[in-house]
Amino acid sequence: MSTNYETELKDFPNIFSLKGKVVVVTGGSRGLGLHAASGFLQAGASKVYITSRKASACESAVKALNALPNLAPGAKAISVPADSAKFEGVEHLVKEVRKTTDHVDILFANAGATWGESFDTHPDSAFAKYPCRTCPIMRWRGPELISENRFAPLLQKNGTIEDPSRVIITASVAGIGVGSLGKNATFGYSASKAAVIHLTKNLAVELGPRHILVNAIAPGFFPSKMASGLLEISGGADTFAAKNPSKRLGKPEDIAGLVVFLSSRAASHINGATVTVDGGEVWARGGMVEVKEEAKL
Ligand SMILES: NC(=O)c1ccc[n+]([C@@H]2O[C@H](COP(=O)([O-])OP(=O)(O)OC[C@H]3O[C@@H](n4cnc5c(N)ncnc54)[C@H](OP(=O)(O)O)[C@@H]3O)[C@@H](O)[C@H]2O)c1
Repeated sequence: MSTNYETELKDFPNIFSLKGKVVVVTGGSRGLGLHAASGFLQAGASKVYITSRKASACESAVKALNALPNLAPGAKAISVPADSAKFEGVEHLVKEVRKTTDHVDILFANAGATWGESFDTHPDSAFAKYPCRTCPIMRWRGPELISENRFAPLLQKNGTIEDPSRVIITASVAGIGVGSLGKNATFGYSASKAAVIHLTKNLAVELGPRHILVNAIAPGFFPSKMASGLLEISGGADTFAAKNPSKRLGKPEDIAGLVVFLSSRAASHINGATVTVDGGEVWARGGMVEVKEEAKL
């Protein structure tokens, strides 16, 4: 007897599999990019290109990734050092990637940098260059990185309506709520992350019909080279963890799990979204007041 219940989902056990996928991770030599690269490879990707400026850092990352015990046969991480903040750097990256693949399934546009300076002393030059012109976020992850003559054709090559290619952009909770203020204010960083979130929505609508889905992730604090300085001068990791509704900071598998999900068949109808990965911290700012005694109203 046939029913209308669709309980037998198609190949559900493999819904998060990235078997055979080709991935590029910018800022992949350490921190969030390296966590993601490890996730991509362990989810079945066949090639993961690791790019950052320092060749030695890319080499070390690739060595560690290729030594993972549970990779698919033939799977490998490949080092492609390039300065993605420079036009020629992006060109070089695409050229190098093209030498060993004719397509890219997943682009994790993650490389980033930050700048802290108080409002009163923030130099015009730094602020002017940050969010607008040489800002890594706007340049590395924006039109230049995925425009027609960059990654878009490689992403478009194998994308289909059933199995679209993916772009995942690393934004930040600083692009949703305010960023750091005071001595190490991150006005430019925060504004550029907000811009990246809006760019994600625009690109999602533009590239969706080409079977490329574009989503953003908005991490809270993850201990990394970039974050550790700010964590230290602002009271330390424990202080930040205590303020977080989940009572901890981010850890590698939080990033790996999220980017694998967003790259998988499970997320093939998610486009233009920004997913926070912060334990709920951004929603708790200004809240989380602990009342010790019973309030007398
Ligand atoms: N950690 C956090 O708490 C946090 C929170 C929210 C958002 N984020 C975002 O997450 C992303 C990764 O940050 P992270 O914390 O992992 O920082 P990180 O540890 O400092 O790593 C940054 C990565 O970007 C690379 N990079 C920097 N400038 C580059 C350039 N011009 N060209 C190519 N690669 C470059 C670095 O390698 P090279 O030095 O070799 O170039 C490194 O691989 C950034 O977009 C950041 O804004 C981080």
